[in-house]
Amino acid sequence: MIGKDIQYACRLLKAGQLVAMPTETVYGLAGNALNPRAVAAIFAVKNRPSFDPLIIHLPDFPSFAPYIATVRPELEALARAFLPGPLTLLLEKSSLVPDLVTAGSPRVAIRVPAHPVARELLGQLDFPLAAPSANPFGYISPTTARHVEDQLGAKIPYILDGGPCTVGVESTILGFESGRPVIYRKGGLAIETIEKVVGEVAVKPYSSSNPQAPGMLKSHYAPSVPFFLAAALHRYPAGAVLIRFREYKPGWPEAQQHLLSPSGDYEEAARRLFALMRELDGSGAPAIVAELLPEEGLGRAVNDRLRRAAAQG
Ligand code: TXA
Ligand code: MG
Repeated sequence: MIGKDIQYACRLLKAGQLVAMPTETVYGLAGNALNPRAVAAIFAVKNRPSFDPLIIHLPDFPSFAPYIATVRPELEALARAFLPGPLTLLLEKSSLVPDLVTAGSPRVAIRVPAHPVARELLGQLDFPLAAPSANPFGYISPTTARHVEDQLGAKIPYILDGGPCTVGVESTILGFESGRPVIYRKGGLAIETIEKVVGEVAVKPYSSSNPQAPGMLKSHYAPSVPFFLAAALHRYPAGAVLIRFREYKPGWPEAQQHLLSPSGDYEEAARRLFALMRELDGSGAPAIVAELLPEEGLGRAVNDRLRRAAAQG
């Protein structure tokens, strides 16, 4: 059921049940992170392998304290600049965080969502919410309540509707290695913006077997129909649709092209990406072809999703 009743969502979560909640990035499938049965239910509903750890969500930075082992000096500056917002911090965990949540890793991923509905919900709970994106494992992430309903509606008691997500791609994940900041997932907070606060950051490449980030698999976000990155000279099936950034491609029927942002705005492109991929996936087109955006700002996060949607295995 879709609705806007925050109190009802609270009661369900306190009773150990799952609720889909809006965040500014994508919708999350939330449950009490300290309740092993709720956490197990999240993995089951998503069909997610248990080696892929979950992000926990808290109302503010001060409430991180019980769940992390130490506060490093850079953290305060990052928190002041970017929380609440589309940034997830990967930190040494305390013993309060169940191993099931982190898939046995000594680090826990924590985020403070900026969406007003998520904030109100978290403010009323005395436990963190574990919440992966509310999609079946490996599929496109949901950016409306309806997207969640379409795929998980029959498996969860309630979907809290907070309108379409304003960022539209998942949070940027940042951790530290030997004291230096490292990005593990490009996301809704641009790398350039983070670098203004902490200086140069390294970006960890994805792999199918990266022990630092077990869930950040190369192949993800895959539609059901074949998905390709545009390449010169490649021939696509007749009727294939093309996703482009700002201008139509000459020589390809305009009715089969979809622009992410005619004004060239990376944030608009990120906001529209997943909804467009879902729409095209269900449109009857035999294939989807996408052209990469310039590698800057949120263009990097969009490109990351396009590359992974096109990756095999
Ligand atoms: O924007 C977001 O981050 C959304 C909203 C709902 O908050 N959540 C989200 O969760 O994208 P999910 O589970 O779809 O993606 C989380 C990623 C996974 O790739 C997972 O492997 C990684 O974060 N992750 C979580 N905890 C980790 C940990 N302890 N160590 C390494 N990677 C971790
Ligand atoms: Mg996800």
